[in-house]
Amino acid sequence: MKPGMEPVIDHYTRTGLMERIRAALRGRGYDPDNPSIEMLSELDHLHGGGFATTEAQVELAEIPRGCHVLDAGCGIGGPSRYLAGMHGCTVDGIDLTPQYIDVAAQLNEMTGLGGKIALAVGSVTDLPYEDEHFDVVLCQNVSMNVADKDRMCKEAFRVLKPGGIYTLSHLAEGPNGSPIYPLPWALTAEVSFLGVPQDLLETLSGAGFSGIEDRAGRARSKPGGGPQPGTIGAAPAMGDDMPARTANAAQSVAEGRLVSMMVVARRPGC
Ligand SMILES: C[S@@+](CC[C@H](N)C(=O)[O-])C[C@H]1O[C@@H](n2cnc3c(N)ncnc32)[C@H](O)[C@@H]1O
Repeated sequence: MKPGMEPVIDHYTRTGLMERIRAALRGRGYDPDNPSIEMLSELDHLHGGGFATTEAQVELAEIPRGCHVLDAGCGIGGPSRYLAGMHGCTVDGIDLTPQYIDVAAQLNEMTGLGGKIALAVGSVTDLPYEDEHFDVVLCQNVSMNVADKDRMCKEAFRVLKPGGIYTLSHLAEGPNGSPIYPLPWALTAEVSFLGVPQDLLETLSGAGFSGIEDRAGRARSKPGGGPQPGTIGAAPAMGDDMPARTANAAQSVAEGRLVSMMVVARRPGC
């Protein structure tokens, strides 16, 4: 474990996480012993806009049906389950937070997807996969916790097949001052590594990617937006203060303190 990563794990780890999820499902009138991907999608897409943003990113990045995806920083596995269960993909998910991987594994089994999603605890900066292994690397709202983005982008490049797609949603610093903390990914600036938008684009280019494009302007749901109305939201997995933290993110975007990015890049090749 690299220095600086423990506070990130602490930020995401919660007491009784599986019971919090079960209670939220029960409260919504769902059977917590038999949840579907759709029921879980109300609470397991841990980024602004929730499931709608995952759908938007899959569409904007033109992730082919049935391909092999690495969900880099997979959280409790909502986007992985969407890709495996509704988009026909084979998925590997990796995350730094052991508790999230444990819960993701349980939810995969409960939804019958255990055989289509392989999970690992680890860092996006040190991926335990062979070279040229994946068609797509999807990384949603993870890079704000990653200090070494150069290493993260080089690792994504290494594990992608030639012609493979790397797509990231990221919140970068805006021109109008510091964002308002606490935010969904960080209570203070200690575990928040944003950079300006150009930094991420240049880091991708430096890692060898081409066709680098920020397509956030075309997305109908964005990673810094508010939760989908009427859904459970990310509070069970990320903390009871999530409504306030999400509101801070949305206000920071509206005031130009944060810039919502949805980047698509390709590893050159056939
Ligand atoms: C805001 S959550 C997003 C989870 C998931 N991508 C989603 O959208 O549902 C951020 C996730 O990034 C993970 N994370 C942070 N730094 C990481 C790193 N260096 N390597 C792998 N995962 C990391 C956290 O453990 C957490 O699960």
